Amino acid sequence: MILSVTAKWLIGYDASASSEELWKYYDIRGLIAFPLNIPGTAFYRCVQGRKNLMKVLKQFIDGRKNAKPRERKDFLDLVIDELRKEKPVLSEKVAFNLLFSLLFASFETTSSAITVILKFLTDNPKALQELTEEHEQILKKRTDPNSEITWEEYRSMKFTSCVIHESLRLANIAPVLFRKAKQDVHINGYTIPEGWIVMICPAAVHLNPTTYKDPIVFNPWRWKDISEPIGGSNDFFAFGWGSRFCVGADFAKLQMTIFLHYLTTKYRAMPRLPFFATTSATKIAFLKYYSRLKYYAYR
Ligand code: HEM
Repeated sequence: MILSVTAKWLIGYDASASSEELWKYYDIRGLIAFPLNIPGTAFYRCVQGRKNLMKVLKQFIDGRKNAKPRERKDFLDLVIDELRKEKPVLSEKVAFNLLFSLLFASFETTSSAITVILKFLTDNPKALQELTEEHEQILKKRTDPNSEITWEEYRSMKFTSCVIHESLRLANIAPVLFRKAKQDVHINGYTIPEGWIVMICPAAVHLNPTTYKDPIVFNPWRWKDISEPIGGSNDFFAFGWGSRFCVGADFAKLQMTIFLHYLTTKYRAMPRLPFFATTSATKIAFLKYYSRLKYYAYR
């Protein structure tokens, strides 16, 4: 779902009309795997997926190049316009890599974030209730109950924003970030020599008890007293910070908020049916941990 939405806006991919399921080509398990490129390994599947997706992207680019210029442009049109120039700033190869990475960056991250948000809400009925009330209030204020979310409504979803930030703080979707030392850096009696790559671990900051009381507890209310970390901060960098700050941060937050709006206004979380409780002990334990609640469409 997430990839279909993003791919629609970036490259005009229509999931309902296409036989290609783009998300299947991204095999995340091979991303951090031993680089053994032989059939059967996670790394091999990841590399093959990339090759296949590149073929699909080539078809997209070729199709668009041969089509009439369009009035409403998407990201792919801008890339093609650039490629058509006499001296383009990027080659076709770079354009493919850019599209591949952008789709990847937009898909794995937001879908993982939504998954963990659901998990945290399922385990915290009080937070789910407050979230539901926030969105129900928005519906009540609407003159047309079928109208879509407005920008003002989006900006008023304060508790939703708290839930998103708290989930990202705890889940650390990007487990590590990298930076290169441009000069010798002296810190706490140590020297990071110029040119070294530094691996930053967001969890070390996000779970710091001096900044966040009871750091491993899911507590979206703590964000009510913290100003929104727009552009990242020293205490919160789920989207990175500085010049490499995530370009899709605002888009991702919007996407997650819209998802939560429809989840809380169109669905209700209810305990699973009792017959599950009569199945094997492992299944009960699994359900207890991962799916105490199920979401049912009610509107
Ligand atoms: C919950 C969702 C997301 C999370 C947690 C996330 C997180 C991150 C992080 C941690 C970085 C590295 C920043 C740094 O090194 O300082 C990053 C970079 C990036 N993200 Fe995201 N991201 C998300 C969604 C998206 C979306 C939806 C898009 C595109 C539509 C996107 C596109 C990118 C790109 C292109 C970069 C590289 C920026 C650069 O190097 O200049 N991300 N993201």
